Amino acid sequence: MNDVVVVGCGIIGAAVAWRLSQLGLSVTCLDPAPGDGATFAAAGMLAPVTEAEFGDDELTALNLESARDWPAFAAELADATGTDLGFRRSGTLTVAFDAGDRQQLRRLLDLRGRLGLPTEEITVEAARELEPLLGPRIAGAAWAPDEHQVDPRQVHAALLSALADRGVDVVRRRVVALAEESSGGPVIGAVDDHGTTHRAGVVVLAAGWASRQLAPSAVTVPTRPVKGQVLRLDAQAQPAFSLDRVVRGFVQARQVYLVSRAGGEVVVGATSEEQPDDRRVTAGGAFAVLRDARALVPGIDELPLVELTARARPGSPDNLPLIGGCGRPGLVLATGHYRNGILLTPLTAAAVATYVRDGAVPDRAAAADPRRFAPTVSGGRP
Ligand code: GLY
Repeated sequence: MNDVVVVGCGIIGAAVAWRLSQLGLSVTCLDPAPGDGATFAAAGMLAPVTEAEFGDDELTALNLESARDWPAFAAELADATGTDLGFRRSGTLTVAFDAGDRQQLRRLLDLRGRLGLPTEEITVEAARELEPLLGPRIAGAAWAPDEHQVDPRQVHAALLSALADRGVDVVRRRVVALAEESSGGPVIGAVDDHGTTHRAGVVVLAAGWASRQLAPSAVTVPTRPVKGQVLRLDAQAQPAFSLDRVVRGFVQARQVYLVSRAGGEVVVGATSEEQPDDRRVTAGGAFAVLRDARALVPGIDELPLVELTARARPGSPDNLPLIGGCGRPGLVLATGHYRNGILLTPLTAAAVATYVRDGAVPDRAAAADPRRFAPTVSGGRP
């Protein structure tokens, strides 16, 4: 019997477990392959400005809150584990490939300006000064100086190490169901694929898009898989290839990004497909990502292609995550982070810890209240 069982040990589940263990609670995590879901694919852009889209104002506010948490979170985790998390303020350069893309970029800049976000249009010449490897055909550019990047795999490894130091068990088993005291009653644990029930006072469901499948009946967890295909290139042996900033772009209305790390890894992504998590990279997906990336930065042609990855993001109906209680005693949700799981990790972990300790999430996480999807709630938020 533990105080808490966390179902899912990707970056969200691991960070939640870390914060809960810091409260002095006994915690077990259950995951057959910790960190092998969306965390494994993620590029690690901490991008509240360049992810700000129309209709997502509440999400943008949440993203900004968590972006503010990241420096202290990264410092604490790096300090606790002696690990380099690849956390750095690189800023984001967004480029438009053609005139239509420039129009799209300007619309987004208008929106982001209205929201008071730190970003501005710059000339193509200024963009080339920032990143000389930009290709010849660029029609427009914008600069967001405050955005950071991190290496999600390193962060996850650091979290596992921090969990081990704190005596948190990470059990490599798949959860097949949550255990209820009685049908529709309090959640009292999680049942794994060996038939073992891991009992706990609180179960945190942090299983990414698959959370929906594990939710008990009458608890609405409307997560869905949104497939992303991501490629990794290796620029280690090519010192002439260097991008100091995250480069994002619109290429004939499609989005693409390149995230370059100190060790030479260049992450290029990503497709966004309403498809199941089949983990298959398709010829068309890889081609589209590479075609668009090389339209912006042709020099990637020279780099070895070292990894092709497909994983599913945990989408939600309103793009906001589900963080906190869901109306069922014993069950707390930490899922549905869609495109911003890495960015929202510090805020989610802190909010779940506050919920477990005090019975309510902090006001700043209120927009992610899972009860907004409860069938008994009419007209929106409780
Ligand atoms: N956050 C970038 C992506 O989901 O592709």
